Amino acid sequence: MAEFVKVANLDELKEDEIRAVNVAGVRIALYRLGNEVFATSDICTHAGCLLSDSGYTQGEEVECGCHSSRFNLKTGAVTQEPAVEPLKSYPVKIESGSVLIEV
Ligand code: FES
Repeated sequence: MAEFVKVANLDELKEDEIRAVNVAGVRIALYRLGNEVFATSDICTHAGCLLSDSGYTQGEEVECGCHSSRFNLKTGAVTQEPAVEPLKSYPVKIESGSVLIEV
């Protein structure tokens, strides 16, 4: 059964930074937007580049640095090709300054 797992403290995460975390062998990218945090797979669905290595955020989108695919970081939806498959996104909750994601 899925459960929420603590992955970071909110105050450790900076806007415009993509933080990679590994939860149960799953590589996940965290994005901070104001006091909200969103989580998607860290692996670009186009050709497997790591968003936390080569990518950057712009507003509500993350762009992969390899071939410029873009995704909505809240939903994982593709907003610019060449990627066609969305990123998996993960539910996030913040409790007492801790960031938890459901995997
Ligand atoms: S691997 Fe991300 S756009 Fe190609």
